[in-house]
Amino acid sequence: MNIERVGVVGGGQMGAGIAEVCAKAGVDVVVHEVSEELAEAARSRVEKSLGKAVERGKLDATDRDNILAGMRFVSDLNLMADRQLVIEAVVEHEGIKTDLFGKLDTIVTAADAILASNTSSIPLTRIGQATSRPGSVVGMHFFNPAPVMPLVEIVHSVTTTDDTADRAAAFARDVLGKVVVRSKDRAGFIVNKLLCPYIFEAIRMFESGFATREDIDAAMVNGAGYPMGPLTLSDLIGNDTMLAVAESLYAEYNEPRYAAPPLLKRMVEAGMLGRKSGRGFYDYG
Ligand SMILES: NC(=O)c1ccc[n+]([C@@H]2O[C@H](COP(=O)([O-])OP(=O)(O)OC[C@H]3O[C@@H](n4cnc5c(N)ncnc54)[C@H](O)[C@@H]3O)[C@@H](O)[C@H]2O)c1
Repeated sequence: MNIERVGVVGGGQMGAGIAEVCAKAGVDVVVHEVSEELAEAARSRVEKSLGKAVERGKLDATDRDNILAGMRFVSDLNLMADRQLVIEAVVEHEGIKTDLFGKLDTIVTAADAILASNTSSIPLTRIGQATSRPGSVVGMHFFNPAPVMPLVEIVHSVTTTDDTADRAAAFARDVLGKVVVRSKDRAGFIVNKLLCPYIFEAIRMFESGFATREDIDAAMVNGAGYPMGPLTLSDLIGNDTMLAVAESLYAEYNEPRYAAPPLLKRMVEAGMLGRKSGRGFYDYG
């Protein structure tokens, strides 16, 4: 089965990026959001991203218009019915995701459709159990920003069939042109299991007054060759997402290095989510 019709549920920073990547590959894409207003916001996110590519000379205006013409932004989940692959990218909240997969299970008609989650840390096995077809549920973990970052982690739950995982991997690699790695269903998968303790340690370092935020970030950019420092990265990922990932990692491994630093919790409570809210470790005006 060639995957030609993809649904993306959640049009935030990740969902909009994933939808853009699929549409650029010539796939018909439907993006679902919780309201018409948020569906329009998702469209604006994609338009802005494509607009930047045109400005930089990486895309011509006709291609931009064709890509946008291949995308629909909707608030009716029933429009996922004819999709061959649905990629969920809603907030990192287990109850919201399992509720959504229960609904997709009844809506998506093709028995061999793939139901994928972009979750950063929630066990795919639990998400699969919310459906009557856990063999068709797989993790497709893209990275931020999805149009730029090459990696997709394909996550096999204990119930994902090899056929589902192989088809999801082939789509990511052959159609989207991504680099694919495979991980078992353990919280954080490969990248976040390694990356998050490092970011949490940077937050603890900043919180304790060990060094300034600018020096922590400059140290890792200039001393370790990272493209951005850990506090800038936390702001880019979203501090709410970082907190949710910490909670999943800590619940899974019970190790202090995965525990959310208190400062991260207070910042999320204060709405300091990073770039997306205009303020996090840094002020984005
Ligand atoms: N931010 C990152 O760097 C990153 C990287 C990889 C994976 N992820 C994962 O991607 C997912 C989304 O993260 P994000 O950064 O895009 O978050 P975000 O807050 O930018 O976007 C989430 C979107 O989901 C929408 N939403 C919430 N409930 C919904 C529902 N029931 N149906 C449809 N839409 C719904 C919200 O309106 C919002 O637009 C999370 O699971 C996160 O862990 C994030």
